[in-house]
Amino acid sequence: MEKLAIDGGQPVRTKPFPSGKKVGEEELEQLREVIESGNMFQGAKVQEFREGFAKMYGSKYCVSSTSGTASIHVGVAMVNPNPSDEIITSPITDIGTIIPIIYQNCIPIFADIEPYTWNMDAADLERKITEKTKAIIVVHLFGNAADMDAIMAVAKRHNIPVIEDCSQAHRSTYRGKLVGTIGEIGCFSLQQSKHMTTGDGGMTITDDDDYGARGTFFVDKGWQRGLPGARQYIMLGMNYRMTELQAAVGIAQLGKVEQVTTLRNRNGDLLTELISDVNGIATQGVIEGSKHTYWQYGFTVDSDANFTADQFSQALSKEGISCGAHYIGKPIFLCQQALVNKTIFGDSHHPFDLPAARKDVEYTEGLCPVTEAILNRMVTIGISQFLAEEDILDIAKGIRKVAEGLARK
Ligand SMILES: Cc1ncc(COP(=O)(O)O)c(C=O)c1O
Repeated sequence: MEKLAIDGGQPVRTKPFPSGKKVGEEELEQLREVIESGNMFQGAKVQEFREGFAKMYGSKYCVSSTSGTASIHVGVAMVNPNPSDEIITSPITDIGTIIPIIYQNCIPIFADIEPYTWNMDAADLERKITEKTKAIIVVHLFGNAADMDAIMAVAKRHNIPVIEDCSQAHRSTYRGKLVGTIGEIGCFSLQQSKHMTTGDGGMTITDDDDYGARGTFFVDKGWQRGLPGARQYIMLGMNYRMTELQAAVGIAQLGKVEQVTTLRNRNGDLLTELISDVNGIATQGVIEGSKHTYWQYGFTVDSDANFTADQFSQALSKEGISCGAHYIGKPIFLCQQALVNKTIFGDSHHPFDLPAARKDVEYTEGLCPVTEAILNRMVTIGISQFLAEEDILDIAKGIRKVAEGLARK
C-alpha cells in the first residue's frame, strides 16, 4: 500500500495542473470595435449580446445587467413582490441569491436540499409554502440540475413563479432541457469564474411579456425612455446597465460557452466514473438524462467513515490536488449575521416587523439539517475545461489513494 503524502509518501501529482485563459483574440477584436466607436454606454454591442444570449436559450426576452446578483434582483423585480412577501430558496448558494430578496423588502425562506443532487427538496419546498409565498428561487448547485419536474409540480399546484439561479449552471440540462428555461425566469452570472464571463455581469431570461418589460425598465432606473414631455420613471429601478465593453467580451464568449461546458461535463463525468467504487465517499448525484457542467466538482465523505472532510481535503492537497472542504461552511442564512439578527436596515427590524409579515420566521441552526450534514461532509475540487484525461486520472488516483489510506488509519 502506498504511503500517503501527508505521512511522508510520494505525492500522486507533482507537476502543476494545466490552466488557461478564458479570453483572447476574439474578445480583443470585439473590444477594439467598441473603443474605436468611442461609445462605451449601452448600445449596439449590448443589444447584439442580449439577442445572441436569448437565441442560445430560445427565450423571448433577455435583460442584461452588471452581475449575477443584479440578474437575480431583476428576476425578483419581474415578479413584483409586496414588502413582507416571502421568497423560498436554497440554503447552499452564494449570498448573491439572497441579497436581492432582502433589498426588495421581502423575506427569504429556506427549503432544505435533498441529499442526492444537493439541490432544493420539492417536499420541503411544499412544506415551506405559505399564503405569503410570492416566488421560488431554485439554485442549480455547481452546475447540477435540481429536480425540476418535482419542483415545477409544487409551484404549479400553488401558482407560484419559479426563478432559476443558473449562475453556476450555464448550458446545464435537466432531462434534456436547458436549465434557465424550465421556470418562468432564468438568471445567470457572468462573473470571472463562471462558464462564460464578462468579468462581472448578468443575464435574466424570460418568455413572459410583463416580466420582460419590467426587467428592461428595472435595470435602467425604471425609466421609460423616448416619451414626450417630462421624464417618466414608471417603476422604481436600479442602474444595472451593462456597458458596451462587457457586452463585447460577452459576444465573443457566446462562441465559446458550448465547448467550455462540454469539456467540463466530460471531465466531471469521467471523474465520477473513475471514483464511483471508492469506499467512504459519495459523489453529487446527477438526475438521469441531465448534463452537469461542473463549475466545481463535489463529493461527500460518508457519515460512518473514519475520516472527516477536513482530513480528506488536507491529505488530498498533500497529494498535489488542490481542493477544499465545506464550500460555504454553513447554510447561507447563518453566514449573514444581519439576517440572523433580523436587523438589516439601520437598527430597525424591517421588513420582519411589517404588519403583514409573518412573525415566526427565524434563521437558526437546525432549520435545514440535510444542508448542514452535506456541507459538513463536503469536499470540493476545481476541475476545468483546461484539464486533459491524464489530469483527471491523477485526480481520481489521488482520491482513491487518500480514501484507502485514511480508512487504514
Ligand atoms: C449560485 C450563485 N448565485 C448568485 C451568485 C452571484 O453572482 P455574482 O457574483 O455575479 O453577483 C453566484 C456567484 O458566485 C452564485 O454562485
